[in-house]
Amino acid sequence: MKVAILGTGMVGETLGTKLVQSGHEVMMGSRKTGNEKALAWVQKAGSKAKQGSFADAAAFGEIIFNCTLGAGALEALKMAGEKNLANRVLIDLSNPLDFSKGMPPTLFVCNSDSLGEQIQRAFPQTKVVKALNTLNCKLMVDPTMVPGDHNIFVAGNDNAAKEKVIAFLAENFGWKTKAFIDVGDITAARGTEALMLLWIRLMGKFQHGNFNWSIAK
Ligand SMILES: NC(=O)c1ccc[n+]([C@@H]2O[C@H](COP(=O)([O-])OP(=O)(O)OC[C@H]3O[C@@H](n4cnc5c(N)ncnc54)[C@H](OP(=O)(O)O)[C@@H]3O)[C@@H](O)[C@H]2O)c1
Repeated sequence: MKVAILGTGMVGETLGTKLVQSGHEVMMGSRKTGNEKALAWVQKAGSKAKQGSFADAAAFGEIIFNCTLGAGALEALKMAGEKNLANRVLIDLSNPLDFSKGMPPTLFVCNSDSLGEQIQRAFPQTKVVKALNTLNCKLMVDPTMVPGDHNIFVAGNDNAAKEKVIAFLAENFGWKTKAFIDVGDITAARGTEALMLLWIRLMGKFQHGNFNWSIAK
């Protein structure tokens, strides 16, 4: 499949590398074609890896991952282009973290709104699925890094899009289908994004990010 990765940070690189290894053609998008990190990734990842602008990548991808900085996500998606994003499934990993006052960060949107909702409102034709934003990127692509059963929350308005995302992540990243918890429509992103406030505290306590949420019933 042709996959777009919007973002040149550690998340984009980690997911892009894994997807190329799984046999997909992956284009990494950035604000500018020829971004240094994107070029370095293409060099390392091999012939199925490409790079371009956010718009190039969005036009290329049959499925699109938003791995951009939370504060820049709407701008990045605007650059990707409403037309390129229309009718596509957009997996939104971004978190609305505000580090402007140092650590720990606050959320720049919360309680009665979320970044996932802002993105869905800005791109009504796009099937936004909030997922993967509550765990470290190394763990996203290798669930065995944490022993036992642990979970990924999925939120979005389109049920078929959520099912597609679950199947894609299970198949390509090695998650069991039962690990995914559909938490409802995109307003559920208010809860999953807010988990980051605790996640960051836990990372500070453990001094690493190799842990995940596990829901017991
Ligand atoms: N680190 C993790 O394990 C992890 C886990 C879960 C979720 N997340 C979330 O995943 C996202 C990506 O994290 P990351 O650490 O890989 O990368 P990041 O440094 O948060 O974001 C890098 C990307 O954001 C773009 N960007 C930055 N400012 C922008 C602006 N003003 N307008 C448009 N685009 C802008 C950059 O564009 P250029 O390429 O042009 O520089 C780059 O592609 C974040 O929202 C983060 O909260 C991270």
